[in-house]
Amino acid sequence: MKQYDFETVIKRRGVGSGKWDEMEKYRVGEDIIPFSVADMELKNAPEIVEGLKTFLDNSVLGYAQPTEAYKNAVKSWMRRRHNWEIDTNWIKDAPGVINAFFTAVKAFTKEGEGVMLMTPVYYPMYFAIYRNNRVLVDNRLVINGDRYEIDFDDFEKKAKDPNTKLLILCSPHNPTGRVWTKEELTRIGRICVDNNVLVVSDEIHNDIIMPGYTHTVFASIDEKFAQNSITCTAPSKTFNLAGLQTSNIIIPNERIRERYWQEVCTTEGNPKCNILGLEGCRLAYEHCEEWLAQTLALIETNRRIVADFIAEEFPQIKVFRLEGTYLLWMDFRGLGIEAKELARILKEEANLFFDEGFIFGEQGAGFERWNLACPTRYIYEGLERLKGTLNKHLK
Ligand SMILES: Cc1ncc(COP(=O)(O)O)c(C=O)c1O
Repeated sequence: MKQYDFETVIKRRGVGSGKWDEMEKYRVGEDIIPFSVADMELKNAPEIVEGLKTFLDNSVLGYAQPTEAYKNAVKSWMRRRHNWEIDTNWIKDAPGVINAFFTAVKAFTKEGEGVMLMTPVYYPMYFAIYRNNRVLVDNRLVINGDRYEIDFDDFEKKAKDPNTKLLILCSPHNPTGRVWTKEELTRIGRICVDNNVLVVSDEIHNDIIMPGYTHTVFASIDEKFAQNSITCTAPSKTFNLAGLQTSNIIIPNERIRERYWQEVCTTEGNPKCNILGLEGCRLAYEHCEEWLAQTLALIETNRRIVADFIAEEFPQIKVFRLEGTYLLWMDFRGLGIEAKELARILKEEANLFFDEGFIFGEQGAGFERWNLACPTRYIYEGLERLKGTLNKHLK
């Protein structure tokens, strides 16, 4: 079987990488180790790179439309990988999932109305609320051992408030790494249907599932959930294609789909799509399952190395169970270092870039999110630096 190369890295400094440019605002140096922003420090699958070259040789790069080939690839992927049968008419492409949940907030809520989040959570979800003058309905997740759980009493109470109109569900959940079980999703779905709360299910991490866990598409559980939801998927996390700006927004309910699209057209004037993104998505979904399998194995290897090292060297740091995503959530509070100081030490002294927990909400203060999608040697190097730097502060 073909073995993919996950060790050769392509330099991303100075070539328009958002992640690297952001890190270099703090520090410029050859020895930066990037464990921040959720994109992979891995070469793209050769099937995508070669496929795009062939496509370029045979294309004119004029205005694009989502092709049937792209839509059928999405449909087939959802059937094969997620056991969800969709109609290609339900798919609306978007430049990103963030665009989609911003649009949904504007289309389905009014200023002053409530949007529920299960926090700590992916920070642009807060932006969708605050920047549009909506009200955050904060359903705080609860730590139980090495995983987070949903406080359903609080969830139901908040969903029953008539001012709560929409839930942005992060599934799998970033940053906690939870893959919600079918039972949990069913409870969420019933409460939302009973209380007329529309669900925007952000499933961008749905393909990055660790051994022993199963992702369930929220809308696939019950026809009532399908009719009360917008499902956001993309090849951007799974195959590291965020720069191609193509996400698949799947909306079974015709009325919701039309209202959603009306809002896109109002905001954007003339929504466009990226011709290479559509083709990249098709190539990924049709040709890259083996690449994905090997990438998942790499993430699991990296996770195990980090978890074992931390358990041995720093038992005061809690590493949460990684059920899905390639983002490991770690609680550093046991070290007794204040959250901002911890961030400073890691960046400035260790030259290590994680995502600080506090960006995901105040409960994240003192936590760090570690992006594991990188060559394994980065993980070893990162752990050694972490050890050296923390030990200076702990003595
Ligand atoms: C939960 C979640 N939603 C959305 C995004 C970003 O989506 P996009 O780049 O498609 O806007 C991310 C990126 O990390 C994410 O973790």
